[in-house]
Amino acid sequence: GTAPIGIDDIELATSHHVVRLDDFAEANGTDPAKFHLGLGQDEFSFPAPDEDVVTMAAAAAAPIIARNGTEGIRTLLFATESGIDQSKAAGMAVHSLLDLPSQMRVVEFKEACYSATAALQAAVGIVTRSPGQRVLVIASDVARYELDTPGEPTQGAGAVAMLVSADPKLLEIEPVSGLNSADVDDFWRPNDSTTAIVDGALSVTAYLDALTGAWTDLAAQSGPAMSEIDRVLYHQPFTKMAKKAQVHLAGLTGEDLDTEIVAGASGTGDGTGAGTSGADSAGPRDTGLATSTLYNRRLGNSYTASLYAGLCSLLDHDEDLAGRRIGFFSYGSGSVGEFFTARVVPGYEQHSRRQSVTDALDARVPLSIDAYRALHAAELSSTEDVSTPKVTAGPFRFAGVRDRARLYERA
Ligand code: CAA
Repeated sequence: GTAPIGIDDIELATSHHVVRLDDFAEANGTDPAKFHLGLGQDEFSFPAPDEDVVTMAAAAAAPIIARNGTEGIRTLLFATESGIDQSKAAGMAVHSLLDLPSQMRVVEFKEACYSATAALQAAVGIVTRSPGQRVLVIASDVARYELDTPGEPTQGAGAVAMLVSADPKLLEIEPVSGLNSADVDDFWRPNDSTTAIVDGALSVTAYLDALTGAWTDLAAQSGPAMSEIDRVLYHQPFTKMAKKAQVHLAGLTGEDLDTEIVAGASGTGDGTGAGTSGADSAGPRDTGLATSTLYNRRLGNSYTASLYAGLCSLLDHDEDLAGRRIGFFSYGSGSVGEFFTARVVPGYEQHSRRQSVTDALDARVPLSIDAYRALHAAELSSTEDVSTPKVTAGPFRFAGVRDRARLYERA
């Protein structure tokens, strides 16, 4: 038959700074449990003045290029909803920073947090037609809401880079998807605004409605039944949302699924995913909700990258994934939902990023709440030439603006 196609390599990168929600709670006079339990978030990544979606994307993609070379990579798909230009693809700066070959197409994908999944599916299509080619897919976002709004503690920043190829080493993507599009104003960012506008309550119901629609369509497309899916990953704007989605999916499918986002909290799922296949084990089935939310609790929302940061977390913390089927629910406000599935390739655990991701999360420099608020409020003008201060410890930096063009360099 034809060779399987999917994710051959994956990397996660984040920003230089972190804001701790304990500090945030103290400054706001809020009970920290509101964040840790109510939203399922502990911290959020926050970019330094010389970081943005390009520098994080290049940092995520650089190790993939170092390990795999560039042969056969003729396409770079960059998914983001916090793009830096209305016309030029942010991926062009990544192409330049990484010295990628000129014999490539580079393009940007947009549909809120969903577009990385569209990019991934487009990549699978390209490799299906040309199995010798590989496609670099990058999802990178900075999630920003206005200060003193309910969305503020769910901010975050991160990038995930993936290499899509035939005979992948990590995940084989299966051909059936459940799809749902519905025109809804739950979350958007007008061209003249650096922060998103959101109707929080509507966004939560729109997300769950999209899950219903996508799951129903998956069944109509003769996709796998819930009993044939071992783990489930959800878009995680905050990790409590994944729990809400899991409760919703349990209702849709009639299956008893573990809905605790903290390992061991229910006394059943141990957070390692172990024992999930045991048909006669008592209690709700552990589908990896706790293991897939560990990175995102610390990253905050990374919009397009969030679902794939959840994938990194699952791959790095669940030792029983070989041959297992993972369901992915991707959601983007506006809105699109897609439910697709993939099989984990045996040997995946040899490519764990657990140490490097944990090191990167631990290495972030904490911001005091005053310093964070000042950085948040500082808006860079694109009409005057500016040089950004050297702050980031990452491999690439945003150097500033000259003649209205953004400049990047190796740090
Ligand atoms: N201890 C424990 N829990 C507490 C608590 C405490 N002291 N205080 C409050 N809580 C709980 C509440 O009970 C509530 O739990 P449930 O959701 O289970 O009811 C939870 O904390 C949240 O509290 P509120 O209901 O008061 O809601 P909020 O004002 O904090 O706003 C939000 C929540 C609307 C999601 C807001 O964070 C927001 O607007 N976020 C941005 C939009 C967003 O992420 N939407 C998600 C779907 S859209 C999407 O997925 C795309 C995307 O990436 C944006």
